Amino acid sequence: MTKQQTWSQRFEAVLHPAIARFNASINFDIELIEYDLTGSQAHAKMLAHTGIISQEEGNLLVAGLEQIRQEYQQGNFNPGVEAEDVHFAVERRLIEIVGDVGKKLHTARSRNDQVGTDTRLYLRDQIKQIRSQLREFQRVLLDIAEKHVETLIPGYTHLQRAQPLSLAHHLLAYFQMAQRDWERLEDVEHRVNISPLGCGALAGTTFPIDRHYTAELLHFDRVYANSLDGVSDRDFVIEFLCAASLIMVHLSRLSEEVILWSSEEFGFITLKDSCATGSSIMPQKKNPDVPELVRGKTGRVFGHLQAMLVMMKGLPLAYNKDLQEDKEGLFDSVRTVKACLEAMTILLQEGLEFRTQRLSEAVSEDFSNATDVADYLAARGVPFREAYNLVGKVVKTSIAAGKLLKDLSLEEWKQLHPAFTADIYEAISPQQVVAARNSYGGTGFTQVSKALLAARAQIADC
Ligand code: ARG
Repeated sequence: MTKQQTWSQRFEAVLHPAIARFNASINFDIELIEYDLTGSQAHAKMLAHTGIISQEEGNLLVAGLEQIRQEYQQGNFNPGVEAEDVHFAVERRLIEIVGDVGKKLHTARSRNDQVGTDTRLYLRDQIKQIRSQLREFQRVLLDIAEKHVETLIPGYTHLQRAQPLSLAHHLLAYFQMAQRDWERLEDVEHRVNISPLGCGALAGTTFPIDRHYTAELLHFDRVYANSLDGVSDRDFVIEFLCAASLIMVHLSRLSEEVILWSSEEFGFITLKDSCATGSSIMPQKKNPDVPELVRGKTGRVFGHLQAMLVMMKGLPLAYNKDLQEDKEGLFDSVRTVKACLEAMTILLQEGLEFRTQRLSEAVSEDFSNATDVADYLAARGVPFREAYNLVGKVVKTSIAAGKLLKDLSLEEWKQLHPAFTADIYEAISPQQVVAARNSYGGTGFTQVSKALLAARAQIADC
Protein backbone atom coordinates (compact mmCIF):
# COMPACT_ATOMS: atom_id res chain seq x y z
CA MET A 1 0.00 0.00 0.00
CA THR A 2 1.74 3.15 -1.11
CA LYS A 3 -0.84 5.83 -0.53
CA GLN A 4 -2.43 6.47 2.81
CA GLN A 5 -5.96 5.26 3.30
CA THR A 6 -8.74 7.79 3.55
CA TRP A 7 -9.99 6.62 6.92
CA SER A 8 -9.22 8.34 10.21
CA GLN A 9 -5.90 8.64 11.93
CA ARG A 10 -7.07 6.05 14.38
CA PHE A 11 -5.43 3.49 12.07
CA GLU A 12 -1.72 3.01 12.56
CA ALA A 13 -0.91 0.33 10.03
CA VAL A 14 -1.94 0.05 6.43
CA LEU A 15 -4.11 -2.75 5.11
CA HIS A 16 -2.59 -6.02 4.03
CA PRO A 17 -2.46 -5.79 0.22
CA ALA A 18 -4.60 -8.90 -0.26
CA ILE A 19 -7.18 -7.57 2.18
CA ALA A 20 -7.14 -4.22 0.40
CA ARG A 21 -7.98 -6.00 -2.83
CA PHE A 22 -10.61 -8.09 -1.09
CA ASN A 23 -12.20 -5.04 0.44
CA ALA A 24 -12.15 -2.85 -2.64
CA SER A 25 -15.14 -2.34 -4.89
CA ILE A 26 -13.55 0.14 -7.28
CA ASN A 27 -13.21 -2.47 -10.02
CA PHE A 28 -16.96 -2.67 -10.35
CA ASP A 29 -18.45 0.38 -8.66
CA ILE A 30 -16.61 2.63 -11.13
CA GLU A 31 -19.79 1.98 -13.14
CA LEU A 32 -21.50 4.39 -10.74
CA ILE A 33 -19.06 7.24 -11.24
CA GLU A 34 -21.25 9.59 -13.26
CA TYR A 35 -24.07 9.17 -10.73
CA ASP A 36 -21.63 9.65 -7.86
CA LEU A 37 -20.46 12.93 -9.40
CA THR A 38 -24.00 14.15 -9.99
CA GLY A 39 -25.03 13.19 -6.45
CA SER A 40 -21.98 14.90 -4.99
CA GLN A 41 -22.64 18.05 -6.98
CA ALA A 42 -26.17 18.18 -5.59
CA HIS A 43 -24.79 17.66 -2.08
CA ALA A 44 -22.22 20.46 -2.55
CA LYS A 45 -24.94 22.83 -3.81
CA MET A 46 -27.07 21.99 -0.81
CA LEU A 47 -24.17 22.64 1.58
CA ALA A 48 -23.79 26.10 0.03
CA HIS A 49 -27.54 26.71 -0.13
CA THR A 50 -27.92 26.04 3.59
CA GLY A 51 -24.83 28.08 4.50
CA ILE A 52 -22.94 25.06 5.82
CA ILE A 53 -20.16 26.07 3.40
CA SER A 54 -19.81 29.32 1.48
CA GLN A 55 -21.27 29.79 -1.98
CA GLU A 56 -17.76 30.15 -3.36
CA GLU A 57 -16.67 26.89 -1.81
CA GLY A 58 -19.76 25.22 -3.21
CA ASN A 59 -18.92 26.49 -6.69
CA LEU A 60 -15.36 25.20 -6.43
CA LEU A 61 -16.57 21.75 -5.41
CA VAL A 62 -19.11 21.57 -8.22
CA ALA A 63 -16.52 22.67 -10.81
CA GLY A 64 -13.91 20.24 -9.48
CA LEU A 65 -16.39 17.39 -9.70
CA GLU A 66 -17.22 18.43 -13.25
CA GLN A 67 -13.53 18.28 -14.12
CA ILE A 68 -13.38 14.70 -12.82
CA ARG A 69 -16.32 13.89 -15.09
CA GLN A 70 -14.39 15.25 -18.08
CA GLU A 71 -11.28 13.33 -17.10
CA TYR A 72 -13.30 10.14 -16.74
CA GLN A 73 -15.09 10.59 -20.05
CA GLN A 74 -11.78 11.18 -21.80
CA GLY A 75 -10.36 8.03 -20.27
CA ASN A 76 -7.97 9.88 -17.98
CA PHE A 77 -9.39 8.88 -14.63
CA ASN A 78 -8.61 5.29 -13.76
CA PRO A 79 -8.37 4.87 -10.01
CA GLY A 80 -6.86 1.62 -8.70
CA VAL A 81 -7.40 -0.55 -5.67
CA GLU A 82 -5.72 1.97 -3.34
CA ALA A 83 -8.81 4.16 -3.73
CA GLU A 84 -10.98 1.37 -2.26
CA ASP A 85 -14.20 2.50 -3.89
CA VAL A 86 -15.56 5.05 -6.34
CA HIS A 87 -16.58 7.42 -3.53
CA PHE A 88 -13.10 7.65 -2.04
CA ALA A 89 -11.57 7.81 -5.52
CA VAL A 90 -13.64 10.85 -6.41
CA GLU A 91 -13.01 12.58 -3.09
CA ARG A 92 -9.27 12.08 -3.36
CA ARG A 93 -9.10 13.39 -6.89
CA LEU A 94 -11.28 16.35 -5.92
CA ILE A 95 -8.85 17.31 -3.16
CA GLU A 96 -5.97 17.07 -5.66
CA ILE A 97 -7.84 19.38 -8.02
CA VAL A 98 -9.38 22.00 -5.72
CA GLY A 99 -7.13 21.68 -2.68
CA ASP A 100 -8.26 21.76 0.94
CA VAL A 101 -11.78 22.92 0.16
CA GLY A 102 -12.29 19.46 -1.35
CA LYS A 103 -12.09 18.11 2.16
CA LYS A 104 -15.39 19.86 2.91
CA LEU A 105 -17.43 17.82 0.43
CA HIS A 106 -18.07 14.98 2.83
CA THR A 107 -19.57 17.29 5.50
CA ALA A 108 -22.97 15.98 6.65
CA ARG A 109 -22.75 12.90 4.50
CA SER A 110 -21.60 9.28 4.76
CA ARG A 111 -20.66 6.78 2.12
CA ASN A 112 -23.73 4.88 3.28
CA ASP A 113 -26.27 7.43 2.10
CA GLN A 114 -23.96 8.28 -0.80
CA VAL A 115 -23.82 4.75 -2.23
CA GLY A 116 -27.57 4.37 -1.81
CA THR A 117 -28.08 7.57 -3.76
CA ASP A 118 -25.71 6.51 -6.53
CA THR A 119 -27.32 3.08 -6.92
CA ARG A 120 -30.79 4.61 -7.16
CA LEU A 121 -29.73 7.19 -9.74
CA TYR A 122 -28.07 4.43 -11.76
CA LEU A 123 -31.06 2.13 -11.59
CA ARG A 124 -33.56 4.87 -12.41
CA ASP A 125 -31.59 5.56 -15.57
CA GLN A 126 -31.33 1.90 -16.50
CA ILE A 127 -35.04 1.28 -15.93
CA LYS A 128 -35.78 4.09 -18.35
CA GLN A 129 -33.57 2.50 -20.98
CA ILE A 130 -34.99 -0.99 -20.46
CA ARG A 131 -38.54 0.31 -20.69
CA SER A 132 -37.83 1.97 -24.00
CA GLN A 133 -36.21 -1.26 -25.24
CA LEU A 134 -39.37 -3.12 -24.22
CA ARG A 135 -41.41 -0.68 -26.29
CA GLU A 136 -39.20 -1.33 -29.31
CA PHE A 137 -39.57 -5.07 -28.81
CA GLN A 138 -43.36 -4.64 -28.67
CA ARG A 139 -43.33 -2.51 -31.81
CA VAL A 140 -41.49 -5.20 -33.74
CA LEU A 141 -43.87 -7.89 -32.48
CA LEU A 142 -46.78 -5.78 -33.72
CA ASP A 143 -45.16 -5.18 -37.10
CA ILE A 144 -44.90 -8.92 -37.65
CA ALA A 145 -48.30 -9.70 -36.15
CA GLU A 146 -50.01 -7.23 -38.47
CA LYS A 147 -48.71 -9.17 -41.45
CA HIS A 148 -49.91 -12.48 -40.08
CA VAL A 149 -53.49 -12.11 -38.89
CA GLU A 150 -54.61 -14.78 -41.33
CA THR A 151 -51.54 -16.97 -41.12
CA LEU A 152 -52.41 -20.01 -39.07
CA ILE A 153 -50.10 -21.83 -36.69
CA PRO A 154 -50.80 -24.93 -34.62
CA GLY A 155 -51.59 -24.07 -31.01
CA TYR A 156 -50.35 -26.48 -28.36
CA THR A 157 -51.11 -27.58 -24.87
CA HIS A 158 -48.71 -30.10 -23.30
CA LEU A 159 -46.78 -29.56 -26.54
CA GLN A 160 -49.49 -31.62 -28.24
CA ARG A 161 -51.46 -30.11 -31.09
CA ALA A 162 -54.52 -28.51 -29.49
CA GLN A 163 -56.31 -25.91 -31.65
CA PRO A 164 -55.05 -23.81 -34.53
CA LEU A 165 -54.35 -20.14 -33.95
CA SER A 166 -53.87 -16.93 -35.84
CA LEU A 167 -50.10 -16.37 -35.80
CA ALA A 168 -50.81 -12.75 -34.88
CA HIS A 169 -52.65 -13.98 -31.78
CA HIS A 170 -49.62 -16.02 -30.77
CA LEU A 171 -47.30 -13.05 -31.18
CA LEU A 172 -49.70 -10.78 -29.33
CA ALA A 173 -49.39 -13.05 -26.30
CA TYR A 174 -45.73 -11.96 -26.09
CA PHE A 175 -46.77 -8.36 -26.62
CA GLN A 176 -48.94 -8.63 -23.51
CA MET A 177 -46.13 -10.14 -21.45
CA ALA A 178 -43.87 -7.28 -22.48
CA GLN A 179 -46.63 -4.83 -21.58
CA ARG A 180 -46.77 -6.22 -18.05
CA ASP A 181 -42.98 -6.01 -17.85
CA TRP A 182 -43.12 -2.39 -18.94
CA GLU A 183 -45.79 -1.58 -16.35
CA ARG A 184 -44.00 -3.51 -13.63
CA LEU A 185 -40.84 -1.49 -14.16
CA GLU A 186 -42.83 1.72 -13.95
CA ASP A 187 -44.11 0.55 -10.60
CA VAL A 188 -40.66 -0.48 -9.38
CA GLU A 189 -39.37 2.94 -10.32
CA HIS A 190 -41.64 4.52 -7.71
CA ARG A 191 -39.64 2.75 -5.04
CA VAL A 192 -36.29 3.34 -6.72
CA ASN A 193 -36.86 7.04 -6.93
CA ILE A 194 -36.64 7.90 -3.24
CA SER A 195 -33.69 9.84 -1.87
CA PRO A 196 -31.61 8.44 0.99
CA LEU A 197 -29.19 11.38 0.74
CA GLY A 198 -28.88 13.08 4.09
CA CYS A 199 -29.59 9.94 6.11
CA GLY A 200 -25.89 10.10 7.00
CA ALA A 201 -24.20 7.00 8.33
CA LEU A 202 -27.43 5.83 9.96
CA ALA A 203 -28.85 8.47 12.27
CA GLY A 204 -29.06 11.69 10.28
CA THR A 205 -26.68 14.59 10.89
CA THR A 206 -26.01 17.44 13.28
CA PHE A 207 -25.81 19.92 10.37
CA PRO A 208 -28.85 21.92 9.19
CA ILE A 209 -29.06 20.13 5.84
CA ASP A 210 -31.97 20.31 3.45
CA ARG A 211 -32.77 16.83 2.18
CA HIS A 212 -35.66 18.02 0.05
CA TYR A 213 -33.36 20.41 -1.76
CA THR A 214 -30.97 17.64 -2.88
CA ALA A 215 -33.92 15.39 -3.68
CA GLU A 216 -35.32 18.07 -5.95
CA LEU A 217 -31.97 18.70 -7.64
CA LEU A 218 -31.64 14.98 -8.34
CA HIS A 219 -35.29 14.60 -9.44
CA PHE A 220 -36.22 12.17 -6.70
CA ASP A 221 -39.96 11.93 -6.02
CA ARG A 222 -39.59 11.66 -2.26
CA VAL A 223 -37.08 11.30 0.56
CA TYR A 224 -36.75 8.36 2.94
CA ALA A 225 -38.68 9.17 6.10
CA ASN A 226 -36.39 7.15 8.36
CA SER A 227 -32.62 7.46 8.22
CA LEU A 228 -31.97 3.87 9.33
CA ASP A 229 -34.31 2.54 6.68
CA GLY A 230 -32.83 4.88 4.10
CA VAL A 231 -29.31 3.48 4.36
CA SER A 232 -30.35 -0.16 4.91
CA ASP A 233 -33.00 -0.57 2.25
CA ARG A 234 -32.25 -2.60 -0.84
CA ASP A 235 -35.85 -3.64 -1.52
CA PHE A 236 -35.70 -1.61 -4.70
CA VAL A 237 -32.81 -3.73 -6.00
CA ILE A 238 -34.71 -6.93 -5.22
CA GLU A 239 -37.87 -5.60 -6.84
CA PHE A 240 -35.93 -4.70 -9.92
CA LEU A 241 -34.32 -8.15 -10.03
CA CYS A 242 -37.80 -9.71 -9.78
CA ALA A 243 -38.99 -7.61 -12.70
CA ALA A 244 -35.80 -8.40 -14.62
CA SER A 245 -36.28 -12.11 -13.93
CA LEU A 246 -39.78 -12.00 -15.37
CA ILE A 247 -38.55 -10.22 -18.48
CA MET A 248 -36.04 -13.03 -18.85
CA VAL A 249 -38.75 -15.67 -18.31
CA HIS A 250 -40.70 -14.15 -21.18
CA LEU A 251 -37.71 -13.82 -23.48
CA SER A 252 -36.65 -17.34 -22.64
CA ARG A 253 -40.07 -18.82 -23.44
CA LEU A 254 -40.08 -17.02 -26.78
CA SER A 255 -36.54 -18.28 -27.35
CA GLU A 256 -37.60 -21.83 -26.69
CA GLU A 257 -40.40 -21.51 -29.24
CA VAL A 258 -38.10 -19.99 -31.85
CA ILE A 259 -35.65 -22.84 -31.30
CA LEU A 260 -38.40 -25.42 -31.73
CA TRP A 261 -39.90 -23.63 -34.72
CA SER A 262 -36.54 -23.51 -36.49
CA SER A 263 -35.97 -27.25 -36.12
CA GLU A 264 -36.55 -29.51 -39.07
CA GLU A 265 -39.25 -31.28 -37.07
CA PHE A 266 -41.38 -28.13 -36.82
CA GLY A 267 -40.06 -26.18 -39.78
CA PHE A 268 -42.23 -23.14 -39.00
CA ILE A 269 -39.50 -20.54 -39.51
CA THR A 270 -36.26 -20.14 -41.35
CA LEU A 271 -33.41 -18.36 -39.67
CA LYS A 272 -31.65 -15.79 -41.77
CA ASP A 273 -27.89 -15.76 -42.05
CA SER A 274 -27.52 -12.46 -40.20
CA CYS A 275 -28.71 -14.00 -36.93
CA ALA A 276 -27.65 -17.64 -37.10
CA THR A 277 -24.33 -19.42 -36.97
CA GLY A 278 -22.89 -22.51 -38.58
CA SER A 279 -21.27 -25.59 -37.18
CA SER A 280 -17.52 -26.09 -37.35
CA ILE A 281 -17.98 -29.66 -38.52
CA MET A 282 -21.49 -30.19 -39.93
CA PRO A 283 -21.81 -28.05 -43.03
CA GLN A 284 -25.58 -28.42 -43.32
CA LYS A 285 -26.29 -26.76 -39.97
CA LYS A 286 -27.67 -23.37 -39.12
CA ASN A 287 -27.90 -22.90 -35.38
CA PRO A 288 -30.27 -20.67 -33.40
CA ASP A 289 -27.51 -19.25 -31.18
CA VAL A 290 -29.35 -16.04 -30.32
CA PRO A 291 -32.39 -17.61 -28.66
CA GLU A 292 -30.19 -20.29 -27.11
CA LEU A 293 -28.00 -17.65 -25.51
CA VAL A 294 -31.02 -15.72 -24.26
CA ARG A 295 -32.44 -18.91 -22.75
CA GLY A 296 -29.03 -19.69 -21.29
CA LYS A 297 -28.46 -16.25 -19.79
CA THR A 298 -31.80 -16.33 -18.00
CA GLY A 299 -30.38 -18.39 -15.15
CA ARG A 300 -27.82 -15.79 -14.15
CA VAL A 301 -30.48 -13.14 -13.60
CA PHE A 302 -32.51 -15.57 -11.45
CA GLY A 303 -29.27 -16.33 -9.60
CA HIS A 304 -28.61 -12.66 -8.85
CA LEU A 305 -32.14 -12.32 -7.45
CA GLN A 306 -31.61 -15.32 -5.20
CA ALA A 307 -28.18 -14.07 -4.08
CA MET A 308 -29.62 -10.70 -3.18
CA LEU A 309 -32.51 -12.15 -1.18
CA VAL A 310 -30.17 -14.38 0.77
CA MET A 311 -27.67 -11.57 1.30
CA MET A 312 -30.33 -9.32 2.83
CA LYS A 313 -32.24 -11.73 5.03
CA GLY A 314 -29.95 -11.78 8.03
CA LEU A 315 -28.64 -8.23 8.05
CA PRO A 316 -29.12 -6.25 11.24
CA LEU A 317 -29.75 -2.53 10.78
CA ALA A 318 -28.19 -0.43 9.43
CA TYR A 319 -25.33 -0.55 6.89
CA ASN A 320 -23.18 -3.68 6.75
CA LYS A 321 -20.41 -4.27 4.28
CA ASP A 322 -22.40 -7.20 2.90
CA LEU A 323 -24.38 -4.52 1.08
CA GLN A 324 -21.41 -3.89 -1.19
CA GLU A 325 -22.35 -7.24 -2.72
CA ASP A 326 -25.53 -5.75 -4.19
CA LYS A 327 -23.72 -4.21 -7.13
CA GLU A 328 -22.14 -6.84 -9.32
CA GLY A 329 -25.35 -8.88 -9.58
CA LEU A 330 -27.38 -5.78 -10.27
CA PHE A 331 -25.01 -4.51 -12.95
CA ASP A 332 -24.79 -7.91 -14.57
CA SER A 333 -28.57 -8.28 -14.57
CA VAL A 334 -29.01 -4.86 -16.18
CA ARG A 335 -26.43 -5.67 -18.84
CA THR A 336 -27.94 -9.10 -19.47
CA VAL A 337 -31.52 -7.88 -19.81
CA LYS A 338 -30.49 -5.06 -22.13
CA ALA A 339 -28.36 -7.31 -24.31
CA CYS A 340 -31.07 -9.97 -24.54
CA LEU A 341 -33.80 -7.49 -25.39
CA GLU A 342 -31.64 -5.99 -28.09
CA ALA A 343 -30.72 -9.36 -29.58
CA MET A 344 -34.29 -10.70 -29.54
CA THR A 345 -35.63 -7.53 -31.13
CA ILE A 346 -33.10 -7.80 -33.95
CA LEU A 347 -33.80 -11.51 -34.32
CA LEU A 348 -37.52 -10.85 -34.73
CA GLN A 349 -37.05 -7.87 -36.96
CA GLU A 350 -34.60 -9.29 -39.42
CA GLY A 351 -33.42 -12.71 -38.32
CA LEU A 352 -36.32 -14.99 -39.06
CA GLU A 353 -39.08 -15.59 -41.52
CA PHE A 354 -42.28 -17.56 -41.03
CA ARG A 355 -42.80 -20.35 -43.56
CA THR A 356 -46.46 -19.68 -44.28
CA GLN A 357 -46.89 -22.59 -46.68
CA ARG A 358 -45.49 -25.05 -44.18
CA LEU A 359 -47.64 -23.51 -41.43
CA SER A 360 -50.81 -23.87 -43.43
CA GLU A 361 -49.98 -27.50 -44.16
CA ALA A 362 -49.29 -28.06 -40.47
CA VAL A 363 -52.76 -26.96 -39.38
CA SER A 364 -54.46 -29.12 -42.02
CA GLU A 365 -52.89 -32.42 -41.13
CA ASP A 366 -54.00 -33.08 -37.58
CA PHE A 367 -57.02 -33.50 -35.33
CA SER A 368 -56.89 -30.00 -33.88
CA ASN A 369 -60.39 -29.41 -35.27
CA ALA A 370 -61.88 -32.14 -33.05
CA THR A 371 -63.26 -29.66 -30.51
CA ASP A 372 -65.07 -27.94 -33.34
CA VAL A 373 -66.90 -31.14 -34.25
CA ALA A 374 -68.05 -31.44 -30.64
CA ASP A 375 -69.00 -27.73 -30.62
CA TYR A 376 -70.91 -28.32 -33.89
CA LEU A 377 -73.08 -30.96 -32.27
CA ALA A 378 -73.41 -29.03 -29.03
CA ALA A 379 -74.67 -26.01 -30.99
CA ARG A 380 -77.30 -28.33 -32.44
CA GLY A 381 -78.62 -29.42 -29.08
CA VAL A 382 -76.42 -32.43 -28.25
CA PRO A 383 -75.10 -32.10 -24.69
CA PHE A 384 -71.42 -31.19 -24.94
CA ARG A 385 -70.09 -34.17 -22.94
CA GLU A 386 -72.05 -36.58 -25.13
CA ALA A 387 -70.76 -34.87 -28.27
CA TYR A 388 -67.24 -34.95 -26.85
CA ASN A 389 -67.41 -38.72 -26.30
CA LEU A 390 -68.78 -39.27 -29.75
CA VAL A 391 -65.99 -37.31 -31.39
CA GLY A 392 -63.42 -39.16 -29.27
CA LYS A 393 -64.62 -42.37 -30.91
CA VAL A 394 -64.41 -40.91 -34.42
CA VAL A 395 -60.88 -39.70 -33.80
CA LYS A 396 -59.92 -43.16 -32.63
CA THR A 397 -61.42 -44.95 -35.66
CA SER A 398 -60.03 -42.30 -38.06
CA ILE A 399 -56.52 -42.73 -36.72
CA ALA A 400 -56.85 -46.49 -37.13
CA ALA A 401 -58.02 -45.97 -40.72
CA GLY A 402 -55.23 -43.46 -41.44
CA LYS A 403 -57.73 -40.69 -42.12
CA LEU A 404 -58.28 -37.13 -40.93
CA LEU A 405 -61.69 -35.76 -39.96
CA LYS A 406 -61.96 -33.87 -43.22
CA ASP A 407 -61.63 -37.18 -45.09
CA LEU A 408 -64.83 -38.67 -43.64
CA SER A 409 -67.75 -38.91 -46.04
CA LEU A 410 -71.03 -37.18 -45.26
CA GLU A 411 -72.53 -40.62 -44.83
CA GLU A 412 -69.99 -41.49 -42.20
CA TRP A 413 -70.77 -38.23 -40.39
CA LYS A 414 -74.48 -38.91 -40.54
CA GLN A 415 -74.00 -42.42 -39.23
CA LEU A 416 -72.27 -40.93 -36.29
CA HIS A 417 -75.07 -38.48 -35.60
CA PRO A 418 -78.05 -37.38 -37.70
CA ALA A 419 -77.42 -33.71 -36.85
CA PHE A 420 -74.45 -33.58 -39.24
CA THR A 421 -75.06 -31.91 -42.59
CA ALA A 422 -72.75 -30.85 -45.43
CA ASP A 423 -71.67 -27.68 -43.65
CA ILE A 424 -69.54 -29.81 -41.29
CA TYR A 425 -66.68 -29.59 -43.80
CA GLU A 426 -66.64 -25.83 -43.68
CA ALA A 427 -66.97 -25.90 -39.87
CA ILE A 428 -63.82 -28.00 -39.46
CA SER A 429 -61.63 -26.22 -42.00
CA PRO A 430 -58.68 -24.64 -40.13
CA GLN A 431 -59.56 -21.15 -41.32
CA GLN A 432 -63.09 -21.49 -39.93
CA VAL A 433 -61.91 -23.16 -36.76
CA VAL A 434 -59.85 -20.08 -36.01
CA ALA A 435 -62.40 -17.54 -37.24
CA ALA A 436 -65.12 -19.05 -35.07
CA ARG A 437 -63.25 -18.41 -31.81
CA ASN A 438 -64.57 -14.92 -31.68
CA SER A 439 -64.99 -14.60 -27.93
CA TYR A 440 -63.28 -11.60 -26.34
CA GLY A 441 -59.52 -12.25 -26.21
CA GLY A 442 -59.85 -15.28 -28.48
CA THR A 443 -58.01 -16.08 -31.69
CA GLY A 444 -60.88 -15.29 -34.10
CA PHE A 445 -59.71 -12.93 -36.84
CA THR A 446 -62.14 -10.19 -35.83
CA GLN A 447 -60.91 -10.32 -32.26
CA VAL A 448 -57.27 -10.38 -33.31
CA SER A 449 -57.72 -7.37 -35.58
CA LYS A 450 -59.28 -5.48 -32.69
CA ALA A 451 -56.50 -6.60 -30.36
CA LEU A 452 -53.90 -5.34 -32.82
CA LEU A 453 -55.51 -1.91 -32.95
CA ALA A 454 -55.72 -1.74 -29.18
CA ALA A 455 -52.08 -2.79 -28.86
CA ARG A 456 -50.93 -0.11 -31.30
CA ALA A 457 -52.87 2.51 -29.39
CA GLN A 458 -51.41 1.31 -26.11
CA ILE A 459 -47.83 1.99 -27.18
CA ALA A 460 -48.54 5.00 -29.37
CA ASP A 461 -47.68 7.78 -26.96
CA CYS A 462 -44.94 6.25 -24.87
N1 ARG B 1 -18.18 0.56 -1.27
C1 ARG B 1 -19.18 0.59 -0.28
C2 ARG B 1 -20.43 -0.17 -0.78
O1 ARG B 1 -20.51 -0.36 -1.93
C3 ARG B 1 -19.56 2.00 0.04
C4 ARG B 1 -20.16 2.19 1.39
C5 ARG B 1 -19.13 1.97 2.43
N2 ARG B 1 -19.62 2.23 3.73
C6 ARG B 1 -19.03 1.78 4.84
N3 ARG B 1 -19.60 2.06 5.96
N4 ARG B 1 -17.91 1.09 4.78
O2 ARG B 1 -21.29 -0.56 -0.04
